Amino acid sequence: MKLALVVGARPNFVKISPLIKAINEHNKSTLPQIQYILVHTGQHYDSFMSDSFFQSLQIPKPHFNLGIGSGTHAEQVGNTMIAFEKVLKSEQPDWVVVVGDVNATLACSITAKKEQIKVCHIEAGLRSGDMTMPEEINRLVTDRLSDLLLTPDQLSSKNLQQEGTDVDKIKMVGNIMIDTLNDALETAGMLELDEIIQRNSADEVNKNPEADSYALITLHRPSNVDQVEDLTKIVQFFIDQAASQIPLVWPVHPRTLKNLERFELLETLRKNNNIILLQPLNYFDMLKLNSQAKMVITDSGGLQEECTVLGTPCITMRFNTERPITLQEHGGTSVLVGNDLSKVKLSFNAALNQKRESRIPELWDGHAAVRCLAEIIKY
Ligand code: UD1
Repeated sequence: MKLALVVGARPNFVKISPLIKAINEHNKSTLPQIQYILVHTGQHYDSFMSDSFFQSLQIPKPHFNLGIGSGTHAEQVGNTMIAFEKVLKSEQPDWVVVVGDVNATLACSITAKKEQIKVCHIEAGLRSGDMTMPEEINRLVTDRLSDLLLTPDQLSSKNLQQEGTDVDKIKMVGNIMIDTLNDALETAGMLELDEIIQRNSADEVNKNPEADSYALITLHRPSNVDQVEDLTKIVQFFIDQAASQIPLVWPVHPRTLKNLERFELLETLRKNNNIILLQPLNYFDMLKLNSQAKMVITDSGGLQEECTVLGTPCITMRFNTERPITLQEHGGTSVLVGNDLSKVKLSFNAALNQKRESRIPELWDGHAAVRCLAEIIKY
């Protein structure tokens, strides 16, 4: 059996790494071997967003890099389809395995189905119900086309059933990202906070936040960072209210950095002694910072899940989430606040007095990749 494994953007790398390890383990047995090719669409291309993840997660060099880079959604999806079709025609895999919800996930599943190649979607069934999110469109189309839908939790399996997906195609395998997290905890635990901060900062940092005494921030969604009014309001909150109570550590996503510069907000942030701006971090650095943070303020989906498992209070600057299992009302540690700063402020004050409490949803046990592979083989 031959698999084409697809990655495109940062959150994909964390999900494909355990699957490759599971394939390598399987191939040590006497069972029929599984061949794979790794295809990187190149949507995320710079060393901070891509190479550092390949290195830290020991992902082998991709067999194909489609070099798609930045662009509009249609450019990214269209260019990926054109390039990926050539790979499929020459490589003839039995399966295309896609993960997550980025543009590569969508583009490669459409291309595969048109070539009549089976599609397996890992992290199937997540739904925010918000069609203004490009990721929601990617999820819906990918799931509609997939032959095997591997879900992280029961809520996602239920979403698929409610949409009329054949129940035989849906298998709950748990959260593959937690395989990576569990594997990395020991290495991350040995890192020092001040060393991470010095190594990832462009500026001289005089402040070294201590464990349990800083807030970790990540923001990249268009709904928070693309409009001058929204981003200005958020930055004002950080400067005027948050940073006066606790140091803020903020690894800045390239989309956000461009906009902070464009909206002339970057210098004010830089000048604030209690705000530490960092470049995008490698996986271990991020894990260490998360596991020692007083709280996380984010609009990332993956971080909501990691916070739940690590027990970090998570203030999620989104109006909805495709990952309800991470919310406090479903047993997680995350609270949705949109970009309503009065809600952000309330949750921020609450989190200052909150204790960490790790929550582990069903099958988020570090063995999801083995179950994914078993389902593909069984199909
Ligand atoms: C993408 C995903 C999103 C995911 C996020 C994580 C889609 C639709 N969105 O959003 O689901 O949560 O990645 O990071 O697929 N850039 C660089 N260097 C890079 C990559 C990007 O400078 O290595 C710049 C691009 O030029 C672009 C901006 O960052 O201007 C945004 O990149 P893009 O790939 O369009 O989407 P993300 O916002 O990263």
